[in-house]
Amino acid sequence: MEVLITGGAGFLGSKLARQLLARGTLAGPSGQPEKISRITLLDQVAAQGFDDPRIAVMTGDAADAAVIAKALTPSVQSVFHLAAVVSGEAESDFDLGMRINLDATRILLEQARKNGNRPRVVFTSSVAVFGGDLPPKVLDTTPATPQGSYGAQKAMCELMVTDYSRKGFVDGRSLRLPTVTVRPGKANKAASSFASGIIREPLNGVVSICPVPPDTKVWALSPRSTVHNLIHAHELDSAAFGSAGAVNLPGLTTTVGEMVAAMGRVAGAETMKLVEWKEDPAILRLVRTWPGDFVTARAEKMGFVHDANFDEVVKAYVEEELR
Ligand SMILES: NC(=O)c1ccc[n+]([C@@H]2O[C@H](COP(=O)([O-])OP(=O)(O)OC[C@H]3O[C@@H](n4cnc5c(N)ncnc54)[C@H](O)[C@@H]3O)[C@@H](O)[C@H]2O)c1
Repeated sequence: MEVLITGGAGFLGSKLARQLLARGTLAGPSGQPEKISRITLLDQVAAQGFDDPRIAVMTGDAADAAVIAKALTPSVQSVFHLAAVVSGEAESDFDLGMRINLDATRILLEQARKNGNRPRVVFTSSVAVFGGDLPPKVLDTTPATPQGSYGAQKAMCELMVTDYSRKGFVDGRSLRLPTVTVRPGKANKAASSFASGIIREPLNGVVSICPVPPDTKVWALSPRSTVHNLIHAHELDSAAFGSAGAVNLPGLTTTVGEMVAAMGRVAGAETMKLVEWKEDPAILRLVRTWPGDFVTARAEKMGFVHDANFDEVVKAYVEEELR
């Protein structure tokens, strides 16, 4: 079977590709496991570090219908649609956010419709669809009330995925991802970038400036658990998703202060001294609109997972990225 990962050169896209290569199979249209023969990694930049013959690296704009027609052919049965611009960028450049986060998804779904083979589509939405006047804990039934362009674009895509699925054009599933941390590499333009920076930079001996106060709540999930959940979402029968639309993934409720303390326990108290606290009102405004606590009974019943505690998240980063 053939798989397409949009945003395949990105943080989660490349981790997902490696996990799929190791696993070797995915559920085909019948629901039975089928051998993966090809994984196309479509991104605006070339995915690096893959030498497996099953990987096809493709560069192009996911918001260009001609590029999508080339990447999503009728032989592709599974799509993980991850290409996106992050929250900070979608907020500062409205046109860019609308093009990549909204238009590209419609183009992808239209191509799938044209192909007529009803591929499984896993769409990565975000807890940024929630904001504003929220209950102390977000429930499975809490309505999406985004307070930023990124969250609004994700919410609009969820609705499209649901409706294209209802019409039988795709077999789609949308997952609302928590803040995925610890992200390796460089800081990005996500407003939540600090949630990785405050761990990653000190563990690499570098000072990190935290733009939000220590009591800021974060709904967090490790990359390992996130990739596990993306694959799990693909493997579930569409009946498991019912008519309720996007799934709020499980995560850990923690605070920025607790995250730094976990790093101190795992890697030594001196790492904590490399975090400097300096509030940034623009970041704080966006982050404060996001919820920090959830009840995710539906996702847990469906078999989605979360990390045991933040110490485990820090340990996983050290094991996977620093050794
Ligand atoms: N990482 C998180 O904390 C988090 C949280 C919630 C939701 N998500 C969602 O998960 C998905 C993956 O996130 P990530 O952290 O891996 O992000 P990322 O920025 O590392 O990856 C996204 C990829 O999309 C690519 N891209 C952007 N515009 C493109 C275009 N026009 N054409 C082709 N490719 C393009 C980028 O080059 C990048 O490699 C995204 O949809 C994101 O919104 C992530």
